[in-house]
Amino acid sequence: MTYLPSPDRYKKMIYRRCGRSGIKLPAVSLGLWHNFGDVDVMENFRAILHLAFDSGITHFDLANNYGPPPGSAEENFGRILHEDFRKYRDELIISSKAGYTMWDGPYGDWGSKKYLVSSLDQSLKRMGLEYVDIFYHHRPDPETPLEETMGALDLIVRQGKALYAGISNYPAAEADKAISILKKLGTPCLIHQPKYSMFERWAEGGLLDVLEKDGVGCIPFSPLAQGLLTDKYLHGIPEDSRAAKSTGFLQKSQVTDERISQIKRLNDIALQRGQTLAQMALAWLLKDDRVTSVLIGASKPAQLADSLKCLDNINFSGEELAKIEAILK
Ligand SMILES: NC(=O)c1ccc[n+]([C@@H]2O[C@H](COP(=O)([O-])OP(=O)(O)OC[C@H]3O[C@@H](n4cnc5c(N)ncnc54)[C@H](OP(=O)(O)O)[C@@H]3O)[C@@H](O)[C@H]2O)c1
Repeated sequence: MTYLPSPDRYKKMIYRRCGRSGIKLPAVSLGLWHNFGDVDVMENFRAILHLAFDSGITHFDLANNYGPPPGSAEENFGRILHEDFRKYRDELIISSKAGYTMWDGPYGDWGSKKYLVSSLDQSLKRMGLEYVDIFYHHRPDPETPLEETMGALDLIVRQGKALYAGISNYPAAEADKAISILKKLGTPCLIHQPKYSMFERWAEGGLLDVLEKDGVGCIPFSPLAQGLLTDKYLHGIPEDSRAAKSTGFLQKSQVTDERISQIKRLNDIALQRGQTLAQMALAWLLKDDRVTSVLIGASKPAQLADSLKCLDNINFSGEELAKIEAILK
């Protein structure tokens, strides 16, 4: 059956400006790291993508290595893009990245121009696209000169293979340097993608200030701490959870008694606010307007529907924030 998106899709979402750029992103974006590989069920992830677009999510985030196997999330996304979303390409912001191990030998990893340019060519083929909207360097490379890596992003944008450049996992000082190199090259950095959630707060130690000063957007990844910041682990580790799956990145050992105790106390505050814990965890990030969008994952349409309701309340009283801080300490 032909997919027809909801005509109301743009009424449901909040769009926030990405730094000092012309781009607005949905306050909630969808990432395809898990749940979209060849090990997953196509009809399930197709339904997730439909619900996302129907709900006003215009931004889909990928990387060369998402799967498993690596590359399969881009292939699967490309197939659904072609079958269901072809007419809507200009309504979408699609991103990809390179920076982690992708192929054997010295040119399939880190941050050389050789790796970034050839990896993006492979990603475009897998997705059947002429260009991506954002191309990221996925992680800092301690050995390649930053000028070379940023020069590769500038080249890729000038070639029209990406519209905007981004960086991910760069600590504050390196981000500042990368942003200034890109600015000098005439390809401003659009966005930074850090790991940031109630349980992972390194971005607050300088990075957010750098991004604000430089007019660069911020899109926190794993804002639900891979599912820990939801109600799913309150009573143990469910069989169908990321922590239980052999292909998941969340380890059972990360679901500690101490974490569960924090999750329970956070869950109580969420319920008092009339939210689920997932909704409160996302709202807690979005209360800071330096955060452009939260980049969530979902293994089922119902999870996405739940998370999206965070937009109903992103305000916190001083008392609520103090209680949350006391739990996170
Ligand atoms: N730049 C980088 O280095 C980097 C690294 C990692 C991720 N990312 C990006 O960030 C995206 C999101 O990462 P993530 O998947 O770790 O994000 P997340 O939103 O923290 O975790 C998503 C997982 O939490 C569970 N979940 C989500 N919503 C739920 C709900 N409402 N109730 C109960 N459980 C819920 C699901 O896991 P179950 O399987 O347990 O159901 C889901 O797959 C990735 O897809 C990728 O695009 C980037």
